[in-house]
Amino acid sequence: MAVTLRPEIAALPPYRQGRAAAAEAFKLSSNENPSPTHPAILAAIGESNLNRYPDGAATELRARLAERAGVSIDEVHVGAGSSSILYQLVQAAAGHGDEVIYPWRSFEAYPGIVTVAGATSVQIPNLPGGHHDLDAMAAAITDRTRVIIVCTPNNPTSTIVTTAQFTAFMAKVPPTVLVILDEAYFEFVTDPHAVSGLVELQNHPNLVVLRTFSKAFGLAGLRVGWTVGASYILDAARSAAIPLAVTEPAQRAAIAALDVEADLLSGVAELIERRTRVFEGLTAAGLTVPEPHGNFVWVAAGAETSAVAAVLEDGGIVGRVLGADGIRISIGEEESVERLLDSAARVVATLPLAAENARLG
Ligand SMILES: Cc1ncc(COP(=O)(O)O)c(C=O)c1O
Repeated sequence: MAVTLRPEIAALPPYRQGRAAAAEAFKLSSNENPSPTHPAILAAIGESNLNRYPDGAATELRARLAERAGVSIDEVHVGAGSSSILYQLVQAAAGHGDEVIYPWRSFEAYPGIVTVAGATSVQIPNLPGGHHDLDAMAAAITDRTRVIIVCTPNNPTSTIVTTAQFTAFMAKVPPTVLVILDEAYFEFVTDPHAVSGLVELQNHPNLVVLRTFSKAFGLAGLRVGWTVGASYILDAARSAAIPLAVTEPAQRAAIAALDVEADLLSGVAELIERRTRVFEGLTAAGLTVPEPHGNFVWVAAGAETSAVAAVLEDGGIVGRVLGADGIRISIGEEESVERLLDSAARVVATLPLAAENARLG
C-alpha cells in the first residue's frame, strides 16, 4: 500500500527547468544572464567557510540592501532565490479556503506555490498583447482573497505595468490583501512610465517588492533573492522559511555583486541593446512580438508553438515552450542573435503562423 499524500500535491507537475541545449546550440530557455561570472564575485566566494553554517539572518547583505533601498534592515528579507520568498509570503498569508489572484500566463512557479500553500489559484488571463488585465484582477477580489501577484516585466510576455496603471489598481485593493510586486527583471526596464516597486512602497503598506540576484546580477546558480516591505509581513515570511537556506557563498557573492554593480549594469545595458536588435529583427521578419522589457522576448504562436520551437531548434536556438501559448526566448550571447533572426525568418517562411501570431501577439 502506498502512503497517503495530499492529492493536490501528488498531482502537481514538477517544476520544469529550461531545456538544456546541444553543444552547438544556444540555451535561451531560462532567462539567464549569458555573461561570465565577475572575477570579484568568484574571489568573494572563495573566502567562504564551508565548515560553518551561514549567518541565518544574512545581516551584512540585508544591511547593504536596506541602505540601497532607503529602508531599515527589518524591512528587508533575503531567500534562496526570490522563488523561495514567494513560497514564504504566500504560505504566510494564504491557506485552505483562501484565494491568490495572479495574471496568466505569468511565472510558471506561481500555480505550484499556491497549491503547496493549500490555497486556490485565481488566474486572470492577460489582455491580447500580453499585458496584465488589472481591471479583471481587481474585479476578481473576494472576501477570500489574501494575496495578489503582479509581475512586471511579466514572465513570459515581457510587458510592463505602468505607474498610472498600478496606482489605479491599488486603489481597488483592500489594505488587508497582500500585494506582491514581482520585479525579477527590474534592472532591464528602461521605460520611464514603468512602475517602480521601491517607490510605490511608500504609498501602499500592503505591498511587498520582490527582486533577485539571478538575472541582471548573474547569480542564478547561487540562489539569492530579496524582498522589501513592512517588517511584520517579512517576519511572517521569515517564520515560514527553511532556516539557513541562503548559504555563505551566496551571501558573499551577492555583497560582492553590489560592490561591482556598475560593471554588472553595463553588461545589462549591452543586453538591452541586444534586445532592441532582436525585437526589431523579429518584427521585421514579420512576427508580432510585444515590446520587450525583460531579458527575453515572447512569440505568441498558439497551436503552432511546438512547430516554431522545432524550427528554432534546427537553427540552434532552444527557447522555452509554454504549452500551446507561445515560446519565450531569452536574450543570450551576441552570437545567438543572428542565428535567432535567421531561424525566425525560416519560421515565417515555412509555417502558417502569421495570422495566429498577429491575433495572439
Ligand atoms: C517573474 C519571476 N519571478 C521570480 C523568479 C525567480 O527567480 P529566482 O528564484 O532565481 O530569484 C523568476 C525566475 O525565472 C521569474 O521569472
